[in-house]
Amino acid sequence: MGDKKFYITTPIYYPSDNLHIGHAYCTTAADAIARFKRLTGYETFFLTGTDEHGQKIEKKALEKGVTPQQYVDNIVSGIKDLWKMLDISYDDFIRTTDERHVKAVQKIFKQLYEQGDIYKGEYEGWYCTPCESFWTERQLVDGKCPDCGRPVEKARDESYFLRLSKYADRLIDYIETHDDFIQPPSRKNEMINNFLKPGLEDLCVSRTSFKWGIPVDFDDKHVVYVWLDALTNYITALGYDSDDTTLYDKFWPADIHLVGKEIVRFHTIIWPIILMALGLPLPKQVFGHGWLVFDGDKMSKSKGNVVDPVMLINRYGSDAIRYFLLREIAFGSDGTFSNEALVNRINYDLANDLGNLLSRTVAMIEKYFDGIIPQNSSFDAAKDSDFVSMIEKLPGKVEADMDALQLNVALEDIWAVISRANKYIDENEPWVLAKDPAKSDRLGTVLYNLAEMLRYTGVLLKPFMTHVPEKMFEQLGADDESLTNWESIQTFGKLPSGNKVHKGEALFPRIDIKKELEELEEIKAANMKAAAEKANAESKKEEEIKEDVPVKPEITIEDFDKIDLRVGEIIEAKKAENSKKLLIFKVKSGNSERQIVSGIAKYYSPEEMLGKKVIYIANLKPAKLAGNISEGMLLAAEDKDGNIAMLTVDKPLESGSTVS
Ligand code: ME8
Ligand code: MG
Repeated sequence: MGDKKFYITTPIYYPSDNLHIGHAYCTTAADAIARFKRLTGYETFFLTGTDEHGQKIEKKALEKGVTPQQYVDNIVSGIKDLWKMLDISYDDFIRTTDERHVKAVQKIFKQLYEQGDIYKGEYEGWYCTPCESFWTERQLVDGKCPDCGRPVEKARDESYFLRLSKYADRLIDYIETHDDFIQPPSRKNEMINNFLKPGLEDLCVSRTSFKWGIPVDFDDKHVVYVWLDALTNYITALGYDSDDTTLYDKFWPADIHLVGKEIVRFHTIIWPIILMALGLPLPKQVFGHGWLVFDGDKMSKSKGNVVDPVMLINRYGSDAIRYFLLREIAFGSDGTFSNEALVNRINYDLANDLGNLLSRTVAMIEKYFDGIIPQNSSFDAAKDSDFVSMIEKLPGKVEADMDALQLNVALEDIWAVISRANKYIDENEPWVLAKDPAKSDRLGTVLYNLAEMLRYTGVLLKPFMTHVPEKMFEQLGADDESLTNWESIQTFGKLPSGNKVHKGEALFPRIDIKKELEELEEIKAANMKAAAEKANAESKKEEEIKEDVPVKPEITIEDFDKIDLRVGEIIEAKKAENSKKLLIFKVKSGNSERQIVSGIAKYYSPEEMLGKKVIYIANLKPAKLAGNISEGMLLAAEDKDGNIAMLTVDKPLESGSTVS
């Protein structure tokens, strides 16, 4: 082993109570890569986890009447269950609510502040609550959140900022001199041209507007804001700057951060800059994979078009799902999920090509050799060379594919040999050889080659499927560890003649596609209906919990003093002729009178208003409302439901009295 070490991470997931098959994609891919590295002798550390802080969680917990911690605990246990069902072999699961993470982030924040890379400032801009993203004016698309298209709110706050600008040139230089850093290459160009070259704005790294986050320990009005909290998980999980830095010392820098394409930007700009500021080495590679889309749409829980991985795993088994995800989608590109494609993959690739090959081979060894793996003593160069050399080259090919993270190509290469094996059976017609006792040795060799090929295949499939290889080894009588490790497929012919095969169940039963697709459609229709009903119920609930109206930007006492507020007495009141909304008042103020127009016709009748002592702005520039001159403005209060109440004085003061 020596220094063959490998550290791979997935993103840490937002605690969503409904993970879909798209989420499972990234973790399954990371798992296959990690398993491949372990198989090939690397000491491997595979990290995943959850990203648990933020306003969105705080809100959801409130809606559900639980604490944010209770809310996330519940969801995280569901996420772990899903990873268990998929056989995700993570070495650690970090939660951003873990004490170890919280402490480390506080230390990092403080260090960056003390060395001047974080400074206190103020921001104003637009905030998308569902995305927890802060946008500048020019980033908005049609005034809406550029990510999700939902409305944004104006926000202004005191905040700490990370000096991204200071490191931009160093980062551009790093990216340009390290070709492997951002993969696939198209994503690298996007980062440089769209984000780095136009210039970096400093990044807001704290918030005062919510509490569910890691407190800034030297200024506890603030909590650490999303990316600084999230990205650092990759080192806090290793014990960076803690009492025990063994893992950090061994595994940092990471070999691969595997992430979805929409978060490549954070991983290749913000994260390297945080690391540069801390004086730490950068990860060797950030790989941005594509999205799994469904019916042409990114899956979305609210649409109900999500495909539930638990349902799929229960129906087809985790191996079929893992295989489908890793084979169907060109790694790095977007791919489509469809029930039809899934069932076809199961039927053609798994049940037919692989499953039948295994069951035919084992059945023939049983039939012609009483289940004993025959000798491989009758090599026929014309008939065997091509097939055997394909098998011999396969481990190297797959390793090269995996090093390039071309997971789907690795599987294609394995299946090319599976197809070749099926063709090899047709070419050699074992059932014909079996009729002639003189050809028994040749028959033995043909079957031996097939069994050995299947053993190779079983070993190479171990990273991709977690049950099938075991079943294959068991049927091939090759379950000894020495026949299932990487070393065992470096030389063709290791499968011992004389071992006994065991006929077993079909690896994958064939599915009746027509019937299956109908059933899946029914499930989907039921889900979409349930989602629509749930969304309905939730939007009703949302109406019930009204948000506080945000406080306007601070003003000084001098600002306030510019406003001349007075008590006035309504001595005449009438409806405006040309507007249903407006009432027109004559207001007495000391010795003078003036006309004031007010949009309160929906709430007050002229009769009710008559004689009231109201508060009005006396020095407001006169304006025309629906053609009526208004010399000032009456003050009224409005609640969240739009109820209106006029401001009056609670003792009978003279009109014209000042208000301050
Ligand atoms: O972004 N197809 O978390 P997340 C493929 N907490 N991948 C998909 C997908 C789909 N349809 N939908 C989601 C976050 N993903 C942050 C990360 S890392 C320091 C912080 C992938 O739960 C997505 O691309 O929104 C991302 O890589 C992962 O699921 C987690 O997404
Ligand atoms: Mg996301």
